[in-house]
Amino acid sequence: MTELHLCLNGADVEVDVSPEMTLLEVLREKLGIYSVKHGCETGECGACAVLMDGKPVNSCVMLALQADGHRIDTLEAEGEHPEHGWAETDGLDAIQQAFIETGAVQCGYCTPAMILAARSLLQEHADPTDEMVRDALSSVLCRCTGYQKPVEAVLRAAAVLRGEEVPPVYPEASPLPEHLHPHEGKPDYGGEVQAGSTATQTDTLPRVEAPPKQRSWRSVGKPEPKVDAIKLAMGRPAFTADMEMRGMLIAKVLHSPHAHARIISIDAAEARELPGVAAVLTHEDIPRVVYSTAGQSDPIPGPLDTFSLDHIVRFVGDRVAMVAAETEAIAVEALKRIKVEYEVLPAILDSRDAMKEGAVRIHTEPEYVPFADSDPSRNLAAEIRIDIGDVEKGFSEADLIIEGDYEVPKVQMASIEPHVVVTYWDEDDRLVIRTSTQVPFHVRRQLAPVLNLAPKRIRVIKPRIGGGFGGKQEVLVEDVAAHLTIATNRPVRYEYTRAEEFFAARSRHPMKIHMKTGVKSDGTITANEMYALSDTGAYGCHALTVTGNTGHKAMALYVGDGVYRESPNIRFYADIVYTNTPPSGAYRGYGVPQGYWAVERHMERVIRTLGVDSLAFRLKNTLRAGELHPFSTAWSEGREPQPEIINTCGLEACVEQGAAAIGWLEKYRNADWHEVPGKPHLRRGIGVATVMQGTAIPYLDMGGASLKINDDGSFNLLVGATDLGTGSDTVLAQQAAEILGVPIEDILVYSSDTDFTPFDKGAYASSTTYISGAAVVRAAEQVAERIRIRAARMIEKDGGNPVRPEHILLEDRRAWAPDGRSVSHADVALNALHHEDQEQIMGIGSFMSPVSPPPFAAQFAEVEVDVDTGRVDVKKLVMAVDAGVIVNPLTASGQIEGGMTQALGYAVCEEMLYDEKGHPRETDFSTYHIFSAEEMPELETIFVETFEPSHPFGVKAVAEIPMNGVAPAVGNAVFDACGAEVVRAPITPERVWRALQDGEADL
Ligand code: FES
Ligand code: FES
Repeated sequence: MTELHLCLNGADVEVDVSPEMTLLEVLREKLGIYSVKHGCETGECGACAVLMDGKPVNSCVMLALQADGHRIDTLEAEGEHPEHGWAETDGLDAIQQAFIETGAVQCGYCTPAMILAARSLLQEHADPTDEMVRDALSSVLCRCTGYQKPVEAVLRAAAVLRGEEVPPVYPEASPLPEHLHPHEGKPDYGGEVQAGSTATQTDTLPRVEAPPKQRSWRSVGKPEPKVDAIKLAMGRPAFTADMEMRGMLIAKVLHSPHAHARIISIDAAEARELPGVAAVLTHEDIPRVVYSTAGQSDPIPGPLDTFSLDHIVRFVGDRVAMVAAETEAIAVEALKRIKVEYEVLPAILDSRDAMKEGAVRIHTEPEYVPFADSDPSRNLAAEIRIDIGDVEKGFSEADLIIEGDYEVPKVQMASIEPHVVVTYWDEDDRLVIRTSTQVPFHVRRQLAPVLNLAPKRIRVIKPRIGGGFGGKQEVLVEDVAAHLTIATNRPVRYEYTRAEEFFAARSRHPMKIHMKTGVKSDGTITANEMYALSDTGAYGCHALTVTGNTGHKAMALYVGDGVYRESPNIRFYADIVYTNTPPSGAYRGYGVPQGYWAVERHMERVIRTLGVDSLAFRLKNTLRAGELHPFSTAWSEGREPQPEIINTCGLEACVEQGAAAIGWLEKYRNADWHEVPGKPHLRRGIGVATVMQGTAIPYLDMGGASLKINDDGSFNLLVGATDLGTGSDTVLAQQAAEILGVPIEDILVYSSDTDFTPFDKGAYASSTTYISGAAVVRAAEQVAERIRIRAARMIEKDGGNPVRPEHILLEDRRAWAPDGRSVSHADVALNALHHEDQEQIMGIGSFMSPVSPPPFAAQFAEVEVDVDTGRVDVKKLVMAVDAGVIVNPLTASGQIEGGMTQALGYAVCEEMLYDEKGHPRETDFSTYHIFSAEEMPELETIFVETFEPSHPFGVKAVAEIPMNGVAPAVGNAVFDACGAEVVRAPITPERVWRALQDGEADL
């Protein structure tokens, strides 16, 4: 041990460290500085940044002793909570405040590092340009925001620090109406919307094109700051890994070096003898229980084909053994001492080989439980065969049949917070699992048999999550820590390294897709067919449902026109096969981005072949309001399908608005615009894709909420819903606040804990605002009714005319009678809890929807292509979205910007590849590129609001649809620019260059 001297946040600190400790380890583990985050180990994500002598440095790649004698500043030194009891505080500093106000804080995992980067910049440059800000923030990777709002935040903070007036980000609520108009019965939140009523004053916010109604809401529709933004902007220890427990062990997993092998023998004796090792577990030590890691409702719609540990390994990175030790270094050393003898088996690395005659069988375990048509003897995890209408007749009636092949890669969610879990026995010997998960209730249910514990003996707590994007809709790391806690009786933490995220976590299903479309010469689609060969990797988690959605939500959009619109002819067949590669899983978009790459690239091919107008062709053939969702009677994730009518569709307005914003008419088919003056090697192009998604899984997804009043008139809202950083806690609070007539700061949201919060199926399928929101509305209505009843009685007692409870209006933290008499919520609460006929005013609600109303969008892209090198420079992305009523334009636009940014990676650079032995090429952020602030194109979001009648506030989903259109729109723009038909995503320079040389598809 060596003594380290630091000036840490202005105070002199001395601490004993071992020479190999990084500064990150010392700050977090020895000094309790939790704002400094772990996102990688290789100095690439920037989440661990601190200021050393005022300059940002990445503490994960710096030995602590290198900082000896230096000044180190972290976010703990910045700002204070504005309310601190009797102690006066200076409140948050200008940068923190600006990050909160502009919506720059999403999951908040990168926020401390971003704020420090901003501080360092603003100390040197009081008036930075947009470019300087982007350059400063580019050292910190953010997977949530798309960087637009962080850049805005820094520019705003700079203006504040210069002493300038900045315009308000949020429009002030209009004063209470002069004459209150109480409603008969329930409050009317049936939606009266005023054009522009949610338009705002800074370009942080998107444009909102609202339907011509009169809206009177005071919370729903407003760009409220996130309810958890203060703690995240202060870097509070809110995430799973920030929890310290006495005696906590560190877990590590030994991963397979082979793509497919049988473990002949495994000897862990030497590892177990290593001082500091508390447990080593192999497949010989724990029960053999087959399960699925896919976090889904019961029954799991997929095969059960996974064990915590098995004697067969099925991909490079599969588990071989697990270790718990006093320190990470000891755990890593123990892994090296486990002796394993393998019999290497033939491996399948190309999905096209999986079902070939004589192919090795990947799943031979007798415990295998098939689902629907899974057939492990053919390496088939799932099979889908859907015929709608008469497809062959449709083709026979076509003037032209156009076919094409398309391909999409395996890509990683790359949330900056890795998978992480802490497990421990509580004082009642119940197993507590504190985990960064999207599905806490599924974790409890699915792990119980694996651990041989009754579900009631397990409690799952979900703290803040540093991004999930579907990757945490998986029961992936929880069993490791839980087995080790059971083995040792001690708390255990297991956190993936960034490399493990790439080789052992889940990813998007790669697919090879064939399209065949029949059209009349006037542009009417007569039949449309897709075949998808989908690669589920070594295990079948989400195999059926992801690929089912490829057809269900991408092939559903184009129904044809005229008689074909009345009775569409659509075929969707898919084989989802096992290979010896890391398992695929749920990733934002859930199979739909794969489908739209093929559908929208193919439609463009049809359009160019016919010579018809690109936008007109799409609008002629796409689904419209009032029509039957064509797949709703054909497929429902293995359950009985139910017919569903599309209530709302704003696609036409989306196309109009998006086209206007990108200047479609001036650019499309304008030869002059495609030239770049003075740069003959550059070509400009413009492209479009129209897309849809779903909102929750009908007849399945359910969310619950409970709400109670406190004696100051505030409310506790408990939800099982899981905020991944998306802002769902905030939009749920807004819906409760709207019903109860209070500002959202009076709604204290807690999510989620399987012991305390009602059930919620979790954060996936774009369902939280819609499903959990409707549950919140139901709970809030019960509370509002009790407040009205009691308030009417209290008002009456004060004298004057009698008041009927249903005539009471809840507004501005008060209950108002029609004649203007009122009583505050706080007085109602005191009356109920302490004074008279005492009761706890509370409500509980749950909601399940029989429909899955689709959001629609038009995605536009403008690119510049270097025809000498194939380099594609995306200049601008515009997305016009119909996601129903937007509850919070600030968080919703954050979803669109962040989603478009992830989708841009899918379009041009993200791809996971494997060598001939199944070893991954990408294991860190230097080999797997995600966009940084300085690389981003201009992003524009437009919300075209419709009112979805199946939800009390008219909402539809917003979280996943931005993943769907960017890649095909960019692909179409590249073709428009230079004629390069790149049919395999991502559109790399090499593929563009080859397509230009070959003049043909690159497969
Ligand atoms: S750069 Fe240090 S954690 Fe990623
Ligand atoms: S807000 Fe940046 S990683 Fe989530």
